[in-house]
Amino acid sequence: MIPHSRPFIDDEDAREVQRVLLSGQLAQDGEVARFESRMASFVGVRGAVAVSSGSAALQLALMALKVGPGDEVLVPSYVCPAVLNAVLHTGASPVVADIEPATFNLSAGDAMRRITPKTRAVIVPHMFGQPADLDALGALGVPVVEDLAMSLGSRRRGKRAGGFGSLAVCSFYATKMMATGEGGMVLGGDEALLAEVRDLRAMDEKEEFRVRFNCKMTDLQAALGLSQLRKLAGFIARRREIADLYGDTLRRLSLPAPPAPAECEPVWYRYVLMLDGDAEPFIEEMKRRGVECRRPVYKPLHRYLRLSGFEASEEAWRRAVSVPLYPALSVAEVETIVKALRLVLPKHCTGREQEKRTLGQASRTC
Ligand SMILES: Cc1ncc(COP(=O)(O)O)c(C=O)c1O
Repeated sequence: MIPHSRPFIDDEDAREVQRVLLSGQLAQDGEVARFESRMASFVGVRGAVAVSSGSAALQLALMALKVGPGDEVLVPSYVCPAVLNAVLHTGASPVVADIEPATFNLSAGDAMRRITPKTRAVIVPHMFGQPADLDALGALGVPVVEDLAMSLGSRRRGKRAGGFGSLAVCSFYATKMMATGEGGMVLGGDEALLAEVRDLRAMDEKEEFRVRFNCKMTDLQAALGLSQLRKLAGFIARRREIADLYGDTLRRLSLPAPPAPAECEPVWYRYVLMLDGDAEPFIEEMKRRGVECRRPVYKPLHRYLRLSGFEASEEAWRRAVSVPLYPALSVAEVETIVKALRLVLPKHCTGREQEKRTLGQASRTC
């Protein structure tokens, strides 16, 4: 079975981890500082603070923005529950908004309708490798936390995602654009906000006591992160090649390929197709042909919270499937996936739902 995701780990990664392992310095130290500095340069922001996960990065970013009880934070429905957890851990209330059908990113229009005087921040995940429309979302007038968990390296008008908001967060979970096993980072240009995150991530050797966390990254993870970061441009290039192959396959079936909005350089973290009907029969049939596909979001937040409406998130949850696309795929595996798509996709996709995404995109500024 070709798995839906798999990290790309090579001998250089192994050597780097072994070097740090044998040095005896396992906990947060120089490797973490170097990783932070290289990541900040890569994203194009002033500084970065490494933490133990993307979830921790989200929570600490919100806390640095002074989000707490009585505040509201806007989040999209079509995203994993890490976003919801982070808001609730601060004591604030999540306010869920719908997505743009074309890109699966947070809808600025729907977010605007849900703003209240209590809104303290908006979390903007750049979904599946596509940068969100930060012009429209930035115009909401509340601090933006960009979530790069799925889009590290993507660009909008030449500028990397992560350089638009008040703060940005990354995840280096095993299946992300680059992996450290578990791991995360907060990035940004405001030194005071970053200093607050740095203070909150560790509890020992402080002059004054306050409730803090222990969500540090280890030097072992940072050494792996540095080694992965050196390969990130290659990872992105390979993802694009595979996305192009899948796009050609779709075109040969007279189906529209997923849209890549003008002025954006997506990184193809996921290759998401909208089927005519429910995702499950397609997933089952692909599995029978040795390819593990998945719903790209297990369950949208409005469903967990038992809220109604959220038409675009609901549609995406019902119809969207993610086809394996990652740099660790071998040439033979990509061929197997293409062959399976050729046979299975026409039974589940006339292009009707894909077409809606293409049409929707025409009116977007991104
Ligand atoms: C958009 C988004 N943000 C945050 C996270 C949380 O990252 P982590 O798993 O490193 O806690 C995820 C996790 O998958 C995610 O998809």
